[in-house]
Amino acid sequence: MTVKYVPEPFRIKMVETIKMMSREERIKAMEEAKYNMFGLRGEDVYIDLLTDSGTNAMSSKQWAGVMEGDEAYAGAKSYYKLVEAGQDLFGYKFIQPVHQGRAAEKVLFPLKMEEGKVAISNMFFDTTRAHVELAGARAIDCVVEEAKDPSHRAPFKGNMDVKKMEEIIKEHGAEKVAMIVMTITNNSAGGQPVSIQNLREVYEVAKKYDIPVNIDAARFAENAYFVKLREDEFKDKSIKEIVKEMFKYADTFTMSAKKDAIVNMGGLIGIKDDEELYQLVKGNTISFEGFVTYGGLGGRDLEALSIGLYEGIDEDYLKYRNGQMEYFAAKLDDAGIAYQAPVGGHGLFIDAKAMLPHIPYYEFPGHALAVQLYIEAGIRTCDIGSFMLGNDPDTKEQLEADFEFTRFAIPRRVYTQAHIDIMVDALIRIKENAGDVPGYRITWEPPILRHFQAHLEPIRK
Ligand SMILES: Cc1ncc(COP(=O)(O)O)c(C=O)c1O
Repeated sequence: MTVKYVPEPFRIKMVETIKMMSREERIKAMEEAKYNMFGLRGEDVYIDLLTDSGTNAMSSKQWAGVMEGDEAYAGAKSYYKLVEAGQDLFGYKFIQPVHQGRAAEKVLFPLKMEEGKVAISNMFFDTTRAHVELAGARAIDCVVEEAKDPSHRAPFKGNMDVKKMEEIIKEHGAEKVAMIVMTITNNSAGGQPVSIQNLREVYEVAKKYDIPVNIDAARFAENAYFVKLREDEFKDKSIKEIVKEMFKYADTFTMSAKKDAIVNMGGLIGIKDDEELYQLVKGNTISFEGFVTYGGLGGRDLEALSIGLYEGIDEDYLKYRNGQMEYFAAKLDDAGIAYQAPVGGHGLFIDAKAMLPHIPYYEFPGHALAVQLYIEAGIRTCDIGSFMLGNDPDTKEQLEADFEFTRFAIPRRVYTQAHIDIMVDALIRIKENAGDVPGYRITWEPPILRHFQAHLEPIRK
């Protein structure tokens, strides 16, 4: 199937040279990084798809905004501009900047949860899960079953399983459920979208049991674009109108602005109308992040973020962004390479379990494919599977993830059609000799968020 590449709605004004390395140099670099993708030096990577977070190319307008940034400690004009943008887009009364998404979680979650409580999500991202656990609570994933079958194509595979969610609420008792977190798009399930219908149903059940709903809003614009394409009720609505509608069905949001707000650093907390909660959020922000009107950011970051929030919802941009993913996915279909289908919003999640069936979950197939991609073509990806999931916090046993993905996260406005062709070619070459790819064992790991720092070695059988 041929899918035409949607041309970029921008032109390139500044370039960044990439170092070209030999296969032998890459093998050495990988060994020195202890086989951890996060241990590689950025300059040793040809195409960096480790994350789409903070790796985006800012526009000329954003860079101009950087120069306009007001660096006042208190009351900077860039802060007010950002708050107005947040209120305008999301319809929430209170907007608090923080330095990134996990800072938003660190500020908000301890105000809502404690030991003995649980939080339920359509799927927690790793840092979000970590902050639930750091607050003393337990995180429960409750995504729809169809998300667990990468070959099953459905329009909203990121949705919450609402029936199961209600059963979990009843099982624990509503007073034990501290929060429901709706991750849009659902990163860990492959950047899969969540429908507005699902957001509405979740909110209705949450209100019945008086449980607060928080949107993990990192990829709110990509989610809105999928809603426009796939949910009939919204096909004639603007992205801005869809965004407003999505955020109606929550009480708060935490946002890593490093994704859809197309900046290199930034985060937000939104509170719909709870003034008491806002006072507490301000208190924690001052303790952890800095004064309320800068929240761990420079005035220049606040300015770039307030511009990026609007650029991220531009429909021509979203059409190109989605088109880039569709082009990549169609090439994989042609090559018979399995991935979480249909393709998600911010990247392609290759089904490493299908490509490397000889590697069991406890030898991390998603990670094994990531290492091979680097050696083969200098492409840096990462595991979204059992290696990332880690150990059970109670038993310390390795958990088995629902998926074993290797994630190709595509930075926004950075790579071109030629780069995507290189990614496809590397995957085809690895698939041809898949049996030669080794599994991995961990030789050292820290107690929390281990995948960022763990040391590994290949298992040569
Ligand atoms: C869904 C989701 N939530 C939260 C975060 C954490 O954001 P940050 O990396 O800005 O701390 C991420 C980051 O990748 C994410 O994808």
